[in-house]
Amino acid sequence: MTTRGPSVVLGVGGGIAAYKVASLLRLLTESGHDVTVVPTESALRFVGAPTWEALSGKPVRADVWSQVPEVPHVRLGKSADLVVVAPATADLMARAAAGMADDLLTATLLTARCPVVMAPAMHTEMWEHPATQANVATLTARGVHVVPPASGRLTGSDSGAGRLQEPEDLYAVCLRLLAGSPPAGEDQPAASDILVARATETSDASEGERGSLGGRRVVVTAGGTREPLDPVRYLGNRSSGKQGYALAQVAAARGAQVTLVSANAALAAPEGVEVVPVGTALELQDAVVQAAKDADVVIMAAAVADFRPRDVATTKIKKTHADTPGQRDESAPTIDLVRNPDILAGLVKVRGEATSPVLVGFAAETGDQSGSVIFHAMDKLVRKGCDLLVVNEVGDGLAFGTDGNTVHLLFRDGLPGAGYAPQIGPAPKDQIAAAVWDGIQTIL
Ligand code: CTP
Repeated sequence: MTTRGPSVVLGVGGGIAAYKVASLLRLLTESGHDVTVVPTESALRFVGAPTWEALSGKPVRADVWSQVPEVPHVRLGKSADLVVVAPATADLMARAAAGMADDLLTATLLTARCPVVMAPAMHTEMWEHPATQANVATLTARGVHVVPPASGRLTGSDSGAGRLQEPEDLYAVCLRLLAGSPPAGEDQPAASDILVARATETSDASEGERGSLGGRRVVVTAGGTREPLDPVRYLGNRSSGKQGYALAQVAAARGAQVTLVSANAALAAPEGVEVVPVGTALELQDAVVQAAKDADVVIMAAAVADFRPRDVATTKIKKTHADTPGQRDESAPTIDLVRNPDILAGLVKVRGEATSPVLVGFAAETGDQSGSVIFHAMDKLVRKGCDLLVVNEVGDGLAFGTDGNTVHLLFRDGLPGAGYAPQIGPAPKDQIAAAVWDGIQTIL
C-alpha cells in the first residue's frame, strides 16, 4: 500500500534565493509530501520550470490561463494541507497583503484555508522599509506564519538582514505546521521560533544552530548493552553508538544540557556532553531512570538486550565444563535466559501528565513475511507508547557501524494521513540526528 503524504503548495517568488528552494523541494518530496510548485513569472527567470518539474514530478505553471477546466487557481489552495512561499519577495508579500490575485500563486494564497508560511528574502533596505514591515504585520495578523530572514551575506558583497533561512530550517517549520503545531493566530510567533534565535544571534548558519534547545535537559542513550555470561564472555549486539552520539552532539550544539548514557561505545565524548558509561541493561535502566527525572526529552537510541543469562559464572566457563562437581561434561552447556525490563515502556508507564519528558524510541527493524519495516514499526509505536519512534532499517549491511543511515519518523499523535512516515536519508548520521531533533522540536 502506498500512502499519499500531505499536499504542499510550494510558492516560489522572484528572488535569487529561489535556487536554495530546490533543496527545500527535495526535502519535502523525499519525505513523502505531495508537492506542487507554483512559481511567479519572475521566479522562472531565476530557476526555470524544468528544474521544478523534474524535482516535483509535476507540471509547473505560473499563470491562471493553462489547464483552465481544472480551475487550478481555486483547486490548489483549497486542497492544500500547507502553503509555503520561499523566497517571499517584497513585491510578492505586498501583492498578498493587498489581496491581489494576478497570478496563480497569489490566487492560491487567497483560496488557501490551510496554514501558510512565508520565508522572506531580500536586501536589508527592502526588508526594513516601513512598507514591507507593514505588509508583514498585515500578513501575520491574518495568521500567515512569517519566518524572519537570517542576517548574513546577501547577493552582492553586502550583508545584513534579508537572507533566506536555510532549507533544512524551513523544512522543520513545515513539519511543525503540518503536525498541527502551533495553531494559527496572532499570539503564535512560534511558527518561526525554531529559527528566531538563529536569525538574530548570528549570520553563520552552523553557529545559528545554537540556542533552539537552550534551557532544555536531554537524556540520550547510545551503544549496545552487554550481558555477561562469565568474566570474559557476554551476549551483545552490533550497535556502534554512532547515531546516539550524533544525537547528543546535535542537542548540545543547539544549547541543551545533555546526559549521554553510553553502553560500550568506543567513541569520543561529544563536546559539552556529560557521559555516563554503563555495561548491562540493568545498569542502563538505573542511569536513565535517574537522569530522566528532570529531563525534557529522553531518546532511547541504545540497543538494549531483551534477555540476560539467569546466572553469571564467576569463573570462565570451560569447553569441557562441569555441571556437577567432579564430573566432566563434553557436551555444550545450556544457558538459561531471563527477560530484561523494557526500559522505554517503563518510562512511558510512569510518566506524569504535566512534567513528562518527550519519549523517543528507536526501532531497528527488518521486514519479514508478516509485514514491512513500517508495519512492524507502527505496531511497536503502539506497543511502546512513546511520542516518536525513529525507525531504522537494518540487515544487509544497513545501519550498524556505518556512517550513514535512512530512518522514518513515526509520531504517536500523527502527522496527517494514517501510516504517514516521513523518510530521512540516506544521509550521514549527523544529518539524520539534526532531522530527528527537528522532529522532536515539533513536539516540544
Ligand atoms: N528498549 C528498551 N528496553 C528494552 C529493549 C528495548 O528500552 N529491554 C528500547 C530501545 O532502546 C528502543 C526501543 O525500545 O528505543 C525499541 O527497541 P527494540 O529492540 O527494537 O524493541 P523491542 O521491544 O525489543 O522489540 P523486538 O521484539 O522487535 O526486539
